[in-house]
Amino acid sequence: MVINAAALETVYAISNVDEMISPSMVVFKDVMLRNLDMMVRIAGDASRLRPHCKTHKMAAVTEIELSKGVVKHKAATFAECEMLAMAGVKDILLSYNLVGPNIRRAVAFKQAFPNVKFMATADHIPAIKQLGEAMTAAGLKMELLLDINPGFNRTGISPTNPHAMDTYRALVETPGVWAGGMHIYDANNYQFDLEERTAGVHATWNAAKGLQEKFETRGWPVPRIVCGGTGSFPVYAAINDPVLELSPGTTVFHDYSYAEMFPDMHFEPAVAVLTRVISHPLPDRVTFDAGHKSITPDLPMGNRLAFPDMPDAKQVLQNEEHLGIETSHAAKLSPGDHRLAFPRHVCTTTSLHDWAYVVDGGHMVGRWTISSRTREITI
Ligand SMILES: Cc1ncc(COP(=O)(O)O)c(C=O)c1O
Repeated sequence: MVINAAALETVYAISNVDEMISPSMVVFKDVMLRNLDMMVRIAGDASRLRPHCKTHKMAAVTEIELSKGVVKHKAATFAECEMLAMAGVKDILLSYNLVGPNIRRAVAFKQAFPNVKFMATADHIPAIKQLGEAMTAAGLKMELLLDINPGFNRTGISPTNPHAMDTYRALVETPGVWAGGMHIYDANNYQFDLEERTAGVHATWNAAKGLQEKFETRGWPVPRIVCGGTGSFPVYAAINDPVLELSPGTTVFHDYSYAEMFPDMHFEPAVAVLTRVISHPLPDRVTFDAGHKSITPDLPMGNRLAFPDMPDAKQVLQNEEHLGIETSHAAKLSPGDHRLAFPRHVCTTTSLHDWAYVVDGGHMVGRWTISSRTREITI
């Protein structure tokens, strides 16, 4: 859902904005809570969810998710896993293939958090064997999910590739690990058109089910298939299958690009960057303090953020601490004026900030630490 002028003055109003420094990340807590409630409603049951924490990276958000019955979580880094475990999560999927020093980190994580069910993804037999050996040497055993490539071509093995059978066999037979099922991240199924998206997700799911059948025929159990992200989430959620786990990530903050890409979804952007005008170098141009050290530059120039109250705002320059905007509204803006810039990619914006302001009921009430933006906490 994109933001209109009325929402800016109500939902996103902040009564004590003068107390807030800029540039700064702001979480609108009531919006975030609505997103989380909608996520649980779409899933039908919180126990079907395994949300990805890379979007928020915060213990405070994790604790709220736990209070809503969301007990299974997903992460992409060891720091995120550690943040989740320290926040009280007992079931963590590190959806990342373990290689190099991450193998000993997996052992260290299991030793540090013996009461946490900890699993990872895998798609490469030598790495599976290396992990198995490290676990065995430590007297441990770890669950691994076969990473499936659904056509996104980032990681994993295509379900039609015969190597999928050999790799799953390695998960079943290698000492020190066991086969926990499959993992699929299908951002290739994020089509704008819902019918096309639905057809894409169903094709991916049917291929995974075909593979499950082949594995089970050989006596290899497939207890879980972890699927999707925000774009494919509602389509997977409509499938009734006990092995299916749903892993949206961005939904919690639902960034501006997803609001534009998925008009069929009713999540609302819950994060903005508070920014102030610092200069007015040309009649139609203003410079804000939102450079690419506060709003991610990982999208093309001109497309990194939205000012909902200045729809014609053209992003013409972004340096480390400067954001140049051309707009017909320039004359109404003076140095010191503040605006909310909505990042089009929120996950990589979160990772630029040590903490975020929390706005609740129209008032800034405190800060949340973004503890897993770092690469290493202790492990
Ligand atoms: C492996 C994996 N799972 C889930 C997600 C969540 O996807 P989204 O951000 O579209 O909700 C991501 C996003 O990058 C991902 O990489």
